[in-house]
Amino acid sequence: MEKFVVHGPCRLEGEVTISGAKNAAVAILPATLLVKGKCHLENVPDISDIRAYCKILESLGSKIEYISKNEMIIDNSEVSSAIASYELTSKFRASYYLLGALIGRFDKVQIGLPGGCKLGARPIDQHIKAFKKLGAKVIVRNGNVYTSKTEPLKGTNIFFDVVSVGSTMNAILAATISEGTTTLENVAKEPHIVDLANFLNSMGAKIKGAGTDTIKITGVSELHQKSSYSIIPDQIETGTFMVAAAATKGNVLIKNCIPKHMEPITAKLIEAGATVEEFESDIRVSMDKRPTSVSVKTMPYPGFPTDMQPQFSLLLTLGDTTGTIIETIWESRFQYTDELNKMGADISAHGTTAVFRGVESLSAAPVKAHDLRAGAAMIIAGLCADGQTEISDIHHILRGYENIIGKFEKLGAKIDYIKTEDDE
Ligand code: EPZ
Repeated sequence: MEKFVVHGPCRLEGEVTISGAKNAAVAILPATLLVKGKCHLENVPDISDIRAYCKILESLGSKIEYISKNEMIIDNSEVSSAIASYELTSKFRASYYLLGALIGRFDKVQIGLPGGCKLGARPIDQHIKAFKKLGAKVIVRNGNVYTSKTEPLKGTNIFFDVVSVGSTMNAILAATISEGTTTLENVAKEPHIVDLANFLNSMGAKIKGAGTDTIKITGVSELHQKSSYSIIPDQIETGTFMVAAAATKGNVLIKNCIPKHMEPITAKLIEAGATVEEFESDIRVSMDKRPTSVSVKTMPYPGFPTDMQPQFSLLLTLGDTTGTIIETIWESRFQYTDELNKMGADISAHGTTAVFRGVESLSAAPVKAHDLRAGAAMIIAGLCADGQTEISDIHHILRGYENIIGKFEKLGAKIDYIKTEDDE
């Protein structure tokens, strides 16, 4: 078994550099499949979800040259298979982008159903609706999604029933190589959607409006290879360090981020009593008092991101009165509150609302990383607590945060990585 042991309490101080965005990279890697040639990608995060994606691409026939841990050239000229097994795809969520990426290039595609963090029901009906509207046949059977088409996909109008990151991305991928114009309405606007559109446009796609409610895609017959594309910095990793700085009453300069993407988090941090200074591509966060208890409601971008609520909850856990979080995206994203209660927090979570009666301090306890962001919250909790907090199930954390121990240790934390013999 692998675990982290966080030695607390610790005040974070110093500088940290943000890596490339996981949720952009996991769409851009499969997007390279739209090109029968090479794509050179920079600022790719070195995380286990990306390693899992590279394995899938290689199983399809991609040749990947690793220039450094954050830079690779993917050559898809020889890709001959459009079949990815459930065993590979079920390891993470973003494997569903293979569908959108392969549907234009192959008449028949078979992709295992995706896995990912357990946050409640994670349907893919909107993805399927988009593929069908574009003219593909789609069948879900025996753990796989099968798509087929007898002629090129045709431009159409798609109105999404829910604002969904994944289905917006998948519809963009599928409509890029098609005939005619596709209009996507009620789409997600997250920074990673804009990054995917920028990447595709840089190779000859015609996508307009990414980052707004309506995206228009004029289909093209092929894309050209890409000499170099650098993935945007990770909004959620940035937010995680911003909150960690504030929760530990520290002072941290977060480098290589996009302050504009951080606005909903910055605004809440200021409301909670932190000082946030923005520079061109850096943000400094400091805090020297007990957090003011605030109310948070998660919303699609540009609202407060659901992927930041477990980490931000530490400010409410340690808040001066009572604060609330309303989760509007995922139906069960409060499992981590039981773990914080083991550490002395006073949180009641029912359905999609959690009430945080602020406590003055936390004390170490054995806790579990229920999912990726809950795991990040456990690290922050460990940094705020007295004693040694043991975090199990850390594979969730390693899926999405590059060199997380190294980055926290550079800020003064002491975190041990322990692998016990039953793993050997
Ligand atoms: C993406 O998941 C992210 N994952 C998630 O981040 C993030 O929490 C989520 O967007 C919301 O921001 C990746 O980008 C790989 P959605 P996704 O489709 O695309 C409903 C992390 O920690 N819905 O935007 O799967 C769905 O149930 C992860 O990095 C449908 O009803 O999320 C949810 O309530 C965790 N039908 C809402 O839409 C569908 O077909 C938003 O989901 C699709 C979604």
